[in-house]
Amino acid sequence: GGPKPRPVPGTDFTPVPPNKLDAVSIPDGYAQRVVIRWGDPVVPGAPKFDFTKQTAAAQAKQFGYNNDFVGLIPQDPLGLTNLLVVNHEYTTELHMFPADQYDPANPTEEQVKIAWAAHGLSVLLTRRDPVHGGLEVVPSRYGRRITLDTIFEVRGPAAGSKYLKTSADPTGRKVRGTQNNCSGGVTPWGTVLSGEENIHQYFANSEKVTDPVAAARLKRYAIGTGASTRKWERFDKRWDVAQEPNEPNRFGWVVEIDPNDPNSTPIKHTALGRLKHEGANIKITADGRVAAYTGDDERFEYIYKFVSNGKYKPGKSAHARRHNSALLDDGTLYVARFTGDSPASEIDGKGTLPADGEFDGTGEWIPLASGNKSFVDGMTAEEVYVFTRQAADKVAATKMDRPEDIEPNPVNGRVYAALTNNSDRGAAGKAGVDEVNPRVANKNGQVLEWEEDCGDAASTRFAWRLLLVCGDPKAADTYYGGFPKDQVSPISCPDNVTFDRHGNLWVATDGNALGWNDGLFSVPVTGAERGHVKQFLSVPVGAETCGPVVTDNLVLVAVQHPGENAASSANPTSHWPDGGTAQPRPSLVSVWKKGRFGLPGRIGER
Ligand code: FEO
Ligand code: CA
Ligand code: CA
Ligand code: CA
Repeated sequence: GGPKPRPVPGTDFTPVPPNKLDAVSIPDGYAQRVVIRWGDPVVPGAPKFDFTKQTAAAQAKQFGYNNDFVGLIPQDPLGLTNLLVVNHEYTTELHMFPADQYDPANPTEEQVKIAWAAHGLSVLLTRRDPVHGGLEVVPSRYGRRITLDTIFEVRGPAAGSKYLKTSADPTGRKVRGTQNNCSGGVTPWGTVLSGEENIHQYFANSEKVTDPVAAARLKRYAIGTGASTRKWERFDKRWDVAQEPNEPNRFGWVVEIDPNDPNSTPIKHTALGRLKHEGANIKITADGRVAAYTGDDERFEYIYKFVSNGKYKPGKSAHARRHNSALLDDGTLYVARFTGDSPASEIDGKGTLPADGEFDGTGEWIPLASGNKSFVDGMTAEEVYVFTRQAADKVAATKMDRPEDIEPNPVNGRVYAALTNNSDRGAAGKAGVDEVNPRVANKNGQVLEWEEDCGDAASTRFAWRLLLVCGDPKAADTYYGGFPKDQVSPISCPDNVTFDRHGNLWVATDGNALGWNDGLFSVPVTGAERGHVKQFLSVPVGAETCGPVVTDNLVLVAVQHPGENAASSANPTSHWPDGGTAQPRPSLVSVWKKGRFGLPGRIGER
């Protein structure tokens, strides 16, 4: 061939090869440093972490477990000082305690309370290190932990609903805590949205609810039956559905945290519906309203959009934050229906491209409810908001391959969604393939791109295409945006997405089905290099890649559950990040390009 084309700006680095190392592997010319680890101080006065002597009081002031979403909110024009907000998705008690201290059949009350305190979010003030290029935590009044004991205000059309009332909260307006916060998004007004995802696993005994309507609702959300894995119901009856049948309805929301005000009461926004929210991301509509995109991460679940009635006020003042936050309480909730443009006979389930050369088509947003008005036959608006999955079932929305992160591209205005995998696609009694979910027993997932009509997030119609059909580039069932597959890094199980300032997509993976460690990948979405996937980093053994944040001169990833493939803490499979024989600790890592005079260079530029 002739001279190599110049790499797309922001992606000029030598890819990290697929590997199984117990390390964060980064390209040549880059440096890395751990920002904060599980157990490190967040709130002033937090005690030093001690794996063998953890307490709930200590954990409530320390960085929580299993860091997932990472939001960076600049506090100055150069982005040197930033608020940092991190989700703590879930706990794995077998790895959080010494093996001789933890009996999964009989956790102690203190261990259960440690787990409650290890959930939620952390808020921190950070600055760019003046000597290294990384990010360092600065002790400050912003340091805050939000846990399963923090009081949330319920807002929007389902606030005060009879379905949200419990013996501890007869108002249905005050929920204690948040859990399973997976991904999220930074809002244009400087707050953070966070998705309550796999809420079902914390509850016990839902099979004891005998009312058939209530039982069907619990089943639709797969709320736990019998004893729960963590046995929390032994120490607080709210986890026992037989005693508190409405408690599960108080989770599964998009929550909003205002990190600028450490005394702010966090919010549950019911207008965005109740489901297993992966996260939520905002796009401003053509006429200045606020749209929020959110996916329901379970097999055969749906993609949703909320569009506010009121208009966005630019700015990040306390007044603007209050005004814009309230927009998320009044608007219309939609669910997506996708239609392929190729004949169904050409979707063979093996990932073979149809004759027109693309998995693509059109789609529409079907309204579910707006304020107290329901658009769904047989359901009130209140029921649509609290039992959103059942509303979407009734309007023939498209059952997707596990919708994960959904985020608008700030450069080209299109929206990108990670559909991580779906082992049950095409199985007996389950939905078969369609053009947007084109493979049976989908192990590797796909990345979906759509453009709203007129580029307007308020539109109710859109055009879509699959950007990536992930998996082994050598296999016939994969598609890398039309880019030559012999030149790409293999990618599997896309989970989190973000963009750099050039508009390149960055994809973090969870559960790589090709046998390699997970990682972070860059992908140009336009021009000749559309689909040219390059692996920027890989994470240690057993870990999932979360976050991620990609700025001009800094990449942040949350390394979630390193060593999770171990049976217990007795024989760790990972010793990251502390090395030696240390227990693994979920941690946040900063990566930067080594530049001249000790200053960081630009990410992805030579
Ligand atoms: Fe918690 Fe959908 O990943
Ligand atoms: Ca097609
Ligand atoms: Ca996720
Ligand atoms: Ca995941």
